[in-house]
Amino acid sequence: MNTITIDLKAAKPFVSDIDFERERLFALEALKRLTAGTGLGNDFLGWLHLPQISKEELDGIREAAKALSVGMDTVVVVGIGGSYLGAKAVIEALSHSFDALLPHRKSPLVLFAGHHLSEDYMSELLELMQYRSCACIVISKSGTTIEPAIAFRQIKKHIEDKYGIEEAKRRIVAITDARKGALKQLANRQGYRTFVIPDDVGGRFSVLTAVGLLPMAVAGVDIEALIEGARMQMAKSLNISIENPSVVYAAIRNVLYRQGKKIELLANYHPKLHSVTEWWKQLYGESEGKEGVGIFPAGVDFTTDLHSMGQYIQDGQRILMETVLSVAQPERTLCIEADPLDMDGLNYLSGRRIDECNKMAELGVRMAHVDGGVPNIRIEIPRLDAYSLGALLYFFEAACGISGYMLGVNPFDQPGVEAYKKNMFALLKP
Ligand code: PA5
Repeated sequence: MNTITIDLKAAKPFVSDIDFERERLFALEALKRLTAGTGLGNDFLGWLHLPQISKEELDGIREAAKALSVGMDTVVVVGIGGSYLGAKAVIEALSHSFDALLPHRKSPLVLFAGHHLSEDYMSELLELMQYRSCACIVISKSGTTIEPAIAFRQIKKHIEDKYGIEEAKRRIVAITDARKGALKQLANRQGYRTFVIPDDVGGRFSVLTAVGLLPMAVAGVDIEALIEGARMQMAKSLNISIENPSVVYAAIRNVLYRQGKKIELLANYHPKLHSVTEWWKQLYGESEGKEGVGIFPAGVDFTTDLHSMGQYIQDGQRILMETVLSVAQPERTLCIEADPLDMDGLNYLSGRRIDECNKMAELGVRMAHVDGGVPNIRIEIPRLDAYSLGALLYFFEAACGISGYMLGVNPFDQPGVEAYKKNMFALLKP
């Protein structure tokens, strides 16, 4: 069936049925507060209904993506945190692994900037832009974040110098607040096309607005299918039922947390999911980690990281739970061929798919980690396609809202992020 499944068989042995059922009811209560808008941060619940985006809005995004693609081979997306992670996650998950190197690309290459302050990265990007025909999508809800602001100043100048002020208007799109912020003022003054991030949608919950959808559409992602998947999942994840998969996920991770599993590892067996993990880390870390509580979200790419982190996971401090993100069916088929000499001794695998080895690795790891005291939650998506990813994004967002309420925090603010900024600005001011 074209839907997300959650399997707790390897997590349940670590919790009593009574504790789990109590936590499930607690999760259900949290979901009720979320859907009724009676919980903390209820002025930031706009994301709950984003999958109901209208056809006109989607058409507007697609049309802007098309305009940004005409004559362009590269589009630089400037943003940080929630203003870039969702788009990066989906684009990487759905693109060819060697996309940047393909000789005949159908869509512009999407690159990211403004997500750190590396002088080398910025210089090298500007160097690359000399040889490419570039456009830019600049994204900042507040319009005042320093990392994207510095990057955009550089990129804007580059585009204006290279193509002139008038052409720059065609090549730059801003996504920001409806009214406030320096980026809004700048976009108005320069006459850039703009998209609005709704007031009631926080950065890390904005992937299903133009923030995520415009860069995805530029990269050739089927955003309609993505939204369809999210809409299907919205019905499931907002359903007031203890069978609701987002309720189940929130319940199991919270009951495990209360038993000392303070760190959740999101493990994938597919390198294209690396940035989905990065998106998930921000979503959960920034939503839950406050007031001295919260499950620390970490990520591992398997089987790669079994050769670096595997030892700790198997044998280190017993504070870990593991959530495996598995893809049921790969998009391609590749079998291991028989070799007449069989010098590597792999002929016993001949005729079998590489994915079968991957799935057996997953099963073997699960058994080993459970034996080693690491509970294992398994989330499976049917395929790595736009529909499944849309569903997955919404599934995690809903579970995050529920889980934050279970932890007793406001999942929709991020007061802790201000601390470093205050120090940095004080140090930078003349
Ligand atoms: O989730 C959040 O709100 C943050 O991570 C923001 O997305 C991030 O700080 C970027 O903020 P802005 O879009 O205002 O530049």
